[in-house]
Amino acid sequence: MHYAEITGWGKCVPPAVLSNDDLATFMDTSDEWITSRTGIKERRICHCNFSDMALVSARQALAAANLQPEELDLILLGSLTNDSLCPNTASIVADALGARNAAAIDVNSACTGFLYGLHIGTNLIRTGAHKKVLVIGGEFISHYMNWSRRDVAVLFGDACGAVVIEQSDKECGLLAARIGCEADAKYAIQITNLGSAYSRLSDEFLYIGWNFEGQEVFKRAVKAMAQGCEDVLKETGLTVEDISLVVPHQANKRILDALAKRVGIPDDKVFVNVHKYGNTSAGTIPVALAEALEEGRVKPGDFLLTASFGAGLTWGAGVIKWGDRVTPLSLSDATLPPCDQTALEILAPHIERYANREQSG
Ligand code: UT7
Repeated sequence: MHYAEITGWGKCVPPAVLSNDDLATFMDTSDEWITSRTGIKERRICHCNFSDMALVSARQALAAANLQPEELDLILLGSLTNDSLCPNTASIVADALGARNAAAIDVNSACTGFLYGLHIGTNLIRTGAHKKVLVIGGEFISHYMNWSRRDVAVLFGDACGAVVIEQSDKECGLLAARIGCEADAKYAIQITNLGSAYSRLSDEFLYIGWNFEGQEVFKRAVKAMAQGCEDVLKETGLTVEDISLVVPHQANKRILDALAKRVGIPDDKVFVNVHKYGNTSAGTIPVALAEALEEGRVKPGDFLLTASFGAGLTWGAGVIKWGDRVTPLSLSDATLPPCDQTALEILAPHIERYANREQSG
């Protein structure tokens, strides 16, 4: 029996910070509302391409695992905000890395994109079909934001993370996972006006629309993630006492509190960074994992619990057993292209376009 050990990890958060007060300069919101409803204080805005963020996190993960790009045999990239419809972003990253022996697949399942990818990659390694897989998760969600929608725009941010998983005989990596989809509620989170279901001849084509049923998603997220956690604990024969740290999807601090309560895990065992980045969709779990390692919160042999929920409405949960190494074997000096604008300056033309649209009715 093979296992799929996580041997490398990395993250990329763009430098431009958009605070709650920045948002209140152009929409009817406040730091008080956003903080009390979500726990979010600030988020990052990407100034380059999504693949640039993916590349930086991938290079960090490869360096941490001390792996050459040509040793990879598969890249799985979870995102819905790809550079282009075609080619897929996994191919763009493969080429930029020089991963010429890797197949390249995009996994479009929104916030669960990373967990779905980790599950697929792990099982391809466990069956022996692949040996060294790069799993990336991230989002350039500000690019697809409707900046006149205060109920949605304050929630999200841009970031990306990655892990390398490698075939191992030691019992470690993602030991159990449950993934699913409440497809009957798929339109509770919907981005409209983009895609072949929408006419390219319509004036609406220029304006991205969002359907977002926040309260419905909140309730379903807590329930599905908690059920997923209970299922994977049962499957592995572990109890919550065996779990050292929960590294969940970061959409809202209140969701994390409700999840911890429902699963019976103390708050101090839940890794939280939603206050710094907001909801970065497929980016939240790999970024949180990289930060948990940086902060020394993962020890050799630890059992981690993870869970996610997002558009689809897709969900997932997993138990990860960490291996022997919690420090990177080497470091990458990869960085994003320089950014000489503030977050508000990057967004200004987009904010203006949506404001003009609102005014013209
Ligand atoms: O990644 C997975 C997908 N996402 C999620 O898991 C998110 C799940 N949902 C949530 O996190 C929460 O439902 C939200 C944070 C989105 C909303 O929190 P809520 O406590 O459910 O607020 P609400 O939607 O009930 O809105 C309460 C009020 C409304 O005003 P009225 O109708 O009571 O007068 C909204 O219009 O707050 C108003 N509101 C705002 N006010 C100030 C909505 N957005 C804002 C805003 N600033 N940004």
